[in-house]
Amino acid sequence: MTKSGEAPFADASAIIFGGAKGIGKAVAAEWARRGARVAVADLDHTAASETAAEIAGEGGKGLGLQVDVLSQASMEAAAREAEAAFGPPDIVMNNVGAILNGHPLDIPTEEWHRIFELNYFSVVRSNAIFLPAMLARSSGHVVNTASFAGLYPYAAGRIPYASSKAAVISMSENLALLLEPKGVRVSCLVSGPVMTSIAAGMKDWTPDLPMYGPGSETALKNTAEVARVLADGMRDGRILIPSDPVAFDIIARRASDPDAFTRAKIAGFASGDVGMPKMG
Ligand SMILES: NC(=O)c1ccc[n+]([C@@H]2O[C@H](COP(=O)([O-])OP(=O)(O)OC[C@H]3O[C@@H](n4cnc5c(N)ncnc54)[C@H](O)[C@@H]3O)[C@@H](O)[C@H]2O)c1
Repeated sequence: MTKSGEAPFADASAIIFGGAKGIGKAVAAEWARRGARVAVADLDHTAASETAAEIAGEGGKGLGLQVDVLSQASMEAAAREAEAAFGPPDIVMNNVGAILNGHPLDIPTEEWHRIFELNYFSVVRSNAIFLPAMLARSSGHVVNTASFAGLYPYAAGRIPYASSKAAVISMSENLALLLEPKGVRVSCLVSGPVMTSIAAGMKDWTPDLPMYGPGSETALKNTAEVARVLADGMRDGRILIPSDPVAFDIIARRASDPDAFTRAKIAGFASGDVGMPKMG
């Protein structure tokens, strides 16, 4: 059922890169329910088409597109198709992300590059495609997906991932400085742990290195909850949108004594606390 009239979604044209599964799929459904026409662009064309069909099944407007965010030309082609179907995108979400696990010395340089290409440079490519038209219209909303891993130290087994997500947070907040005065909004979804299949194809470079987690104050969320939090945050004009407000308590504690915060993590790791989130 469509909730009509809700900004910034009502009658908006949206495109989500990495929208076929997991968090992106739930966001596509939530935005469509709030009135957006949603182009679901993903490497997995079949899953993108299924997500678009589910949106249509709920009475919304969805379009499944194939894209590889490693390629500027592929992203440009998806942007053209989305625009032809739904008009120039008012909302663009850069949601593709890949993880890995391993000691940094076991991870080849090429793999660091691959993770940054997927998680960070895909956003750079997207900005080049969509921002000129948004700035010319003085309207639009860019949403980038980051992670608690980019906010505070814990993800020692996936440093390329954590640092790429820190870079996405920095890019988003700094872009907001430049773009908000020109009428273009920027939001960054900073997600904690969510039940998705992101770890299914994960490369593990160091046998026996634990998957360090964000800590027992955090809880594993489902994708629909995260999609609602994001949409509400965008509606309310927020820039940094954590999937769980506990993230702000954690970074406030860290800000009061950053070294003590990191040393407490070191001590936790030494005692076998790998930072598992609460389940459910
Ligand atoms: N799941 C979590 O616990 C969690 C936590 C924090 C942040 N995140 C972030 O949320 C985002 C979505 O993650 P998710 O857990 O929903 O993962 P997911 O694997 O379920 O979804 C990622 C989507 O991206 C698509 N994709 C992968 N490579 C692509 C490419 N080259 N071009 C186009 N599409 C491509 C996949 O097909 C998939 O549909 C990522 O940026 C991830 O880092 C996830």
